[in-house]
Amino acid sequence: MSNSFLPTPTRLTYQTSETVIVNHPNLKNKLALPSLATVFFALAFYFALQLAPLPLSEYFLLAPQKWPVALQLTALGLSLSVAFIVVRVVGELVFFLFRKRKGYEAPSLLRDIFSLVAYAAGITIILKSFFPAISFGALLSGSALLGIILGLALQDTLGNLFAGVSLHADKPFQVGDVITVGKWVGTVESITWRAVKLRTFQNHVVMVSNSQVSKESIEVCPRGNANARLVSFGASYTESPVRVTHVVREALREVDNVLRYMTPIVRVRNLGESSIEYEVKYWLDDYARYNDTDALVRQRIWYAFSRAGMHFPHPMLTLNIERRAANGKPPIDGLGIVERLSTVDIFAPLTGEELKLLARSVSKHVFAPGETIIRAGDEGASMFVVHEGRVEVKVVQKGEMRTLGLLHDGDFFGEMALFTGEPRTAHVIAAEETTVLEIGYEAMKHLFDTNPDLVESLGQTIAERRAGLRVNAAVVPNQENGSAGLLASIKRFFKIK
Ligand code: CMP
Repeated sequence: MSNSFLPTPTRLTYQTSETVIVNHPNLKNKLALPSLATVFFALAFYFALQLAPLPLSEYFLLAPQKWPVALQLTALGLSLSVAFIVVRVVGELVFFLFRKRKGYEAPSLLRDIFSLVAYAAGITIILKSFFPAISFGALLSGSALLGIILGLALQDTLGNLFAGVSLHADKPFQVGDVITVGKWVGTVESITWRAVKLRTFQNHVVMVSNSQVSKESIEVCPRGNANARLVSFGASYTESPVRVTHVVREALREVDNVLRYMTPIVRVRNLGESSIEYEVKYWLDDYARYNDTDALVRQRIWYAFSRAGMHFPHPMLTLNIERRAANGKPPIDGLGIVERLSTVDIFAPLTGEELKLLARSVSKHVFAPGETIIRAGDEGASMFVVHEGRVEVKVVQKGEMRTLGLLHDGDFFGEMALFTGEPRTAHVIAAEETTVLEIGYEAMKHLFDTNPDLVESLGQTIAERRAGLRVNAAVVPNQENGSAGLLASIKRFFKIK
């Protein structure tokens, strides 16, 4: 089981990649010990000289192996400690220049190899000048057996060293990147000649050996890269995907550590048993803080849902009892339908009772942005009122889609085909999530029978829209000339005397 439910001691804080910078001890600290040793050996050399039978100038003429032992040892100590100081100062200078040129700190492995080679060279030169009889070449080449023994003993160490060298050459990741290697996830703190040091999100330090890193597949989330995360959540079936998307995007607008310039993407992942399952993809500024940011994202979604009156689904069994109206259509919830119909200008002459009657015969439909509600050329036996949202009326002109108009709440469309029996004259497409009320032939016929004046006002709208079509569209539907002809055709179609 995950330990994420265990209380975290308060003194532990997540280390952010901002703070993950390798801190090498500064030069002062590095020089302290060799300087002390230098002073010590200088003093010892001085006292040994006082006790020696010859003056210093005489000894310079003699080879060191002919010096008294005390003088030899103190001089050797002095030379070695001065060599240490020189190597450290030169190293510092070299890596200072490296940083200046490359703009980043030299990897620890490079520093270690440099120090190793410089110390080995310094020690060899000094030993050789004090003890010329020692043959390092013979020592190295002659000890094949020693080589084999050392090789076997250092097999793992050398493996790590070479894996480390190849990691530095390849540079698959750098200090500050978040990586997943094997079962470990964390921020890279350093890459040494032996291992990669990771700080996990529980603030633990893990050393993963270089050879293991080179064997495993590594997932790298580079520092400074726009790394993304996916957070899942569910929403009730009563909330439309467009609304959920809008609410979640707004909720994530100003979440700390979420990149502002990348708009989060909300996707429907699954139509589940008791909820619509979504995922939101967002991009982080500092990937190392993804645990906190994921949590903040979920928190903000909860608050946004709560403000919007939206619900998170619980596993539940909903018993839907659907009462069908006499016409067989699902009943309209009644909420705001009469009010909406009363705002439609052509229905202005209708009484409250007539509006209620009409409301009972309409059906409500929701369309996603970009969905086609009416397709030009289709047969049509109903008209629509925009209940909530916006639709675009479009025609194809010279092979290109051209917008004739934008209709809002309370506007109606689709009346031409309904009233004349001709094919649909234009495409009508939802410009945003739109709810429309559909009114069929029978309902309109009933209205015409009781309100013959309606035919006139509708005839006028149709005539105006036809004029618009004539100007813009290449093909104009078959029509009788003049509004008198149009009225006659509507009356004929609806069998009105
Ligand atoms: P109908 O022909 O049934 O289907 C397409 C609908 O687009 C049409 O009815 C009208 O309601 C609508 N329409 C056609 N031309 C215009 C226009 N110029 N302005 C607004 N709406 C129009």
